[in-house]
Amino acid sequence: MIELPRGMHKKVSKAFDIWGIEELYPPQIDSLEPIANNENLVVAVPTAAGKSIIAYIAIMNKVFRRGKALYVVPLRALASEKFEELKELSQLGIRVALSYGDYDEDDRRLESYDVVVATSEKADSLLRHRSKWLQDLQVIVADEVHLMNDVGRGPTLEVILTRFKQLNPDAQLICLSATIGNSAEIAGWLDARLILSDFRPVSLKEGVVQGNEVTLDDMGHIEFKNRTGNTLTDAVLDGILDSYDGAGQVLIFVNTRRSAESSAEEMAKVLAGHLSEDDLRELRTISGSVGRSDAKVIQKLKRSIAGGVSFHHAGLSNEQRKIVESAFKNRRIKALFATPTLAAGINLPARRVIVRDHTRFESWNPRAPIPILEIKQMFGRAGRPKYDKEGESWILARKPEEVDVLLERYVWGKPEEVLSKLGSRPALRMHLLSSFATNYVRDMDEMWEFIRSTFYAYQNDTWKISTDVEELVEFLDEEGFLNREGDNVEATDLGKRVARLYIDPLSAVVIRDTLLSEKNKVTTFSILHTICHTTDVHPLFVRRKDSDYVTKYMYAHEDELLIPIPEDDTEYEWYLSSVKTAMFLMEWIGENDESVEAGEDRIETLFNLGPGDVRNKVETAVWILYAMRELSRLYNTGMTAEIDKVSLRVEHGIREELIPMIQVRGVGRIRARRFFEAGYNSLDKVRKATISELASVKGIGRHLAIQIKNSIDPDGEHTIEEEPETPQEEDIKQSRLFDFNG
Ligand SMILES: Nc1ncnc2c1ncn2[C@@H]1O[C@H](COP(=O)(O)OP(=O)(O)OP(=O)(O)O)[C@@H](O)[C@H]1O
Ligand SMILES: [Mg+2]
Repeated sequence: MIELPRGMHKKVSKAFDIWGIEELYPPQIDSLEPIANNENLVVAVPTAAGKSIIAYIAIMNKVFRRGKALYVVPLRALASEKFEELKELSQLGIRVALSYGDYDEDDRRLESYDVVVATSEKADSLLRHRSKWLQDLQVIVADEVHLMNDVGRGPTLEVILTRFKQLNPDAQLICLSATIGNSAEIAGWLDARLILSDFRPVSLKEGVVQGNEVTLDDMGHIEFKNRTGNTLTDAVLDGILDSYDGAGQVLIFVNTRRSAESSAEEMAKVLAGHLSEDDLRELRTISGSVGRSDAKVIQKLKRSIAGGVSFHHAGLSNEQRKIVESAFKNRRIKALFATPTLAAGINLPARRVIVRDHTRFESWNPRAPIPILEIKQMFGRAGRPKYDKEGESWILARKPEEVDVLLERYVWGKPEEVLSKLGSRPALRMHLLSSFATNYVRDMDEMWEFIRSTFYAYQNDTWKISTDVEELVEFLDEEGFLNREGDNVEATDLGKRVARLYIDPLSAVVIRDTLLSEKNKVTTFSILHTICHTTDVHPLFVRRKDSDYVTKYMYAHEDELLIPIPEDDTEYEWYLSSVKTAMFLMEWIGENDESVEAGEDRIETLFNLGPGDVRNKVETAVWILYAMRELSRLYNTGMTAEIDKVSLRVEHGIREELIPMIQVRGVGRIRARRFFEAGYNSLDKVRKATISELASVKGIGRHLAIQIKNSIDPDGEHTIEEEPETPQEEDIKQSRLFDFNG
């Protein structure tokens, strides 16, 4: 029986039964009193030490008293995992919601839940919409709080914490991380109790591999058999085989997608010979569930999985990643080659982690060392209580001299300090504007008060901050986002709209200036290029070999470019990238030589993008197109309808002629094209067609034909009879991965 301190809601102990927890871990016990006393907490304890449970206890303690809670995580995958864990508490009457995506909405639906799990971007956007229920929040959890150190997402997390500190000073803040070098400083900033510990429920043996020998943390040595050869790759393969002999699964971190793919394939060839009949059969089924596709990356994925190995990176679609994760969790996939996207927070059954690469490509240094903080996160994926009794984390030395260096740095070393990144221009610009636009601050005094409450101000000299902030406020004022009268500052309509659109004010300036400029010719390409030239769209890198065809394309479409081609060299590079990104979107919507929507294979060949990348790029493009449309409406440019059309086409990846068909439920870009080829160029034609006629279209089948009839003509009598699936239906299901609407 777990004892709870006075002040803690009694019902909390019921959750332990649900989770099957018999005893609390020491850092969890240490957290009980401060939680009951409503103190803020910074929990800085090792990976796998059960930090989430600490947060869940604080959440329940408030929710059982009718309070509400927000659990903020950096990544969607982690959001889903935490959501699943919290959902088990529904037996205790706790209602949990998962929220991400769609930034321009005031998610009223969330009002009726007790706990909301959200990514930091989503939480920030909810704050901007001043969703009312946020004021009722009594617990805010920031998981993986070391992410404040990240240039991209750190500032958002920092602003959320600052905002809540100001907005609900009584709400309890719970920050969790296994890898912060300056936890006391963060606790100081948040006025929080620091829970420090080096407890780990499952022991983790960290070490450096060189050849077939591992030098451990305590300088002990272990060896594993040399079976495949003497190269570095062979050492990794041997390390996997060795673990497989002991029935342990391995997670291998590498620094590029390409090498994740090729290593997985190579390993699969070796491992396949060792697998049981049962495993091979199951793996074939899993591999089949990935779907048919002509993209090479998917072919590789399927071949690897069939051999008991897989890879995991952002180029895979969400569904594909889920298949891989669950097959690894079910222990069918024995070895998983991942890029670091998989690192933070996730629970996986990896008995052994091998970090193959400890450097990565950065523009300033192609072999930049990976921070200790990140390597420790990778190490921490091994030996998770739910799955394993012990864990091993090894990092690969490329030569014998490297062993000591790596031991020193990554095994014995402590994670770096978390440094605020709110001072970065785009971040500060965006958050300053949103502070005014949402009325969180109404004059210069309040603005300075907000700035003073940030971690950025806590860590930096006042003079540096005041120059940066003043300069940006001036920019916002000059560009028409703010109205300043004496000390009073108000966001203009433009400022308010831009803050809600969740884009960098500089992107808004680029879009507005092009919308209002003199133009000779506005085409789909003009619109796409404009959005690709904003700071919110991460453009595609122009490799040396791409430079020619991108330049040629650019000059061929020069009269359609609404932003002039720059003279300056660095700006020119960036400009070429934006052209290449727009070219990708043009292919995607079939504005190409072939006049047909590009498939996975073509996009992969031309742009080196996998299905997951395509999804991400398309999502961003649709979001910025939406912003462009809203600005166009604000300025009454007469381009709004055109932008809407382009946006719809980008969302679905279609040429104009498919717009009618895409409206039908169950029809995505691939099916829409097939319908069109069969002569269906309007909804009316579909309405008039019989079920058999629709069913005879390639890849449609009877089942879908009835469904389509039902959705177009709900009053008609089109019943769905149970019928075995035709091979054609199977075929279309396979291509579902790229048929997003399907
Ligand atoms: N007291 C406990 N008894 C048994 N299992 C526990 C206990 N506390 C937590 N666990 C389990 O330990 C696992 C790891 O917990 P959790 O994910 O919270 O780790 P973490 O500290 O957040 O690690 P990371 O830093 O990697 O995110 C989970 O599967 C969780 O259910
Ligand atoms: Mg965690």
